[in-house]
Amino acid sequence: MEVNIMAIFYQIDRISVKDAIKRFEKMTFPSLSQKMKKRGLQDPLFAIIAADNTRISGLLLVEHFVENSTGLIISFFVAPKHRERGIGSKLINLASSKLPKLIGVSVLELVFQSNWKSKGRLMNLLAKNGWQSPVTKMLLCKGSISKYQKAEWIKNVDLPPKISMKKWQELSKAEKIMLQEAETRTDVPIEMRPSQIGQIPLPNLSLILKKDDELIGWWVSLKVSEDTLQRSSFYIYPAHRTPSLALTFSARALAEQAKTNFEYFIFQIDARNTGMMNYFDRYLKEYQEEIAEVYEAILPISTERQT
Ligand SMILES: CC(C)(COP(=O)(O)OP(=O)(O)OC[C@H]1O[C@@H](n2cnc3c(N)ncnc32)[C@H](O)[C@@H]1OP(=O)(O)O)[C@@H](O)C(=O)NCCC(=O)NCCS
Repeated sequence: MEVNIMAIFYQIDRISVKDAIKRFEKMTFPSLSQKMKKRGLQDPLFAIIAADNTRISGLLLVEHFVENSTGLIISFFVAPKHRERGIGSKLINLASSKLPKLIGVSVLELVFQSNWKSKGRLMNLLAKNGWQSPVTKMLLCKGSISKYQKAEWIKNVDLPPKISMKKWQELSKAEKIMLQEAETRTDVPIEMRPSQIGQIPLPNLSLILKKDDELIGWWVSLKVSEDTLQRSSFYIYPAHRTPSLALTFSARALAEQAKTNFEYFIFQIDARNTGMMNYFDRYLKEYQEEIAEVYEAILPISTERQT
């Protein structure tokens, strides 16, 4: 039996995001075009390509953040029939050995999820190649709207005195202005702001919370698919935050969701937000259909590694 293992060649290219999508989309994981749509990407990218004489067998793409000398690996993929032959290791090692000299990065970063098929393989690969142990950055949750209806806390829909809730479709001019002002408040983390870039919140399932005439929080819902909603932002100003208010506000929002045909509602939690993580464990965890962890792995590059 003749076994023909083609020689693999490696090369590094500087490439624009647009050209990378055109040339490599099928060899990207996660999808480069989706990533571009979601958050935009900085030009140029650095592509480390593994190829035999005929086609590309593996690809690693790096986005360069000059301000903190970081190379973020935004895609890492080896074609299924070429896996487990060391191509993935070679690509990641070329990134750490060549990019420091080429563009001056001193840290490589990789973000991946617990529900990706290759998670175990990737963890082994990183550990073998000197990366720090991945840490959990975020939880991605998919809750069942009907399961939530069984929660004890969902029955408690009475807001404290002076606190009221309103749907976006019913907002007065003054309330719309307050919501707009929240966009520029520096004490609100950017990812918690009510507006969603390029997306229109559902006006019947997005809510504001008020104390007397003052805006103190919001709950923003987006449509993801016919049966799935996304809660893109849930925020109450710290001065007004209490676990019982957060629960009552959630109960009211879920009661509105239950009136629709949506079955699931997805949201994410920053793992560093210990208050929110405790709240999640205590009140929300058991009503989830799926929980995925988002990990961040880091490789600080010492000068000896650079060749
Ligand atoms: C992750 C991926 C790029 C690895 O590519 P690869 O070419 O198969 O990797 P390698 O052959 O270099 O394997 C590297 C290490 O992974 C581990 N590994 C390989 N196969 C494994 C398996 N079946 N189970 C567990 N670990 C495995 C081993 O530690 C191996 O090193 P070793 O052979 O020296 O023991 C590839 O599996 C892939 O494209 N997966 C799908 C896309 C993806 O999830 N990418 C991650 C995006 S961040």
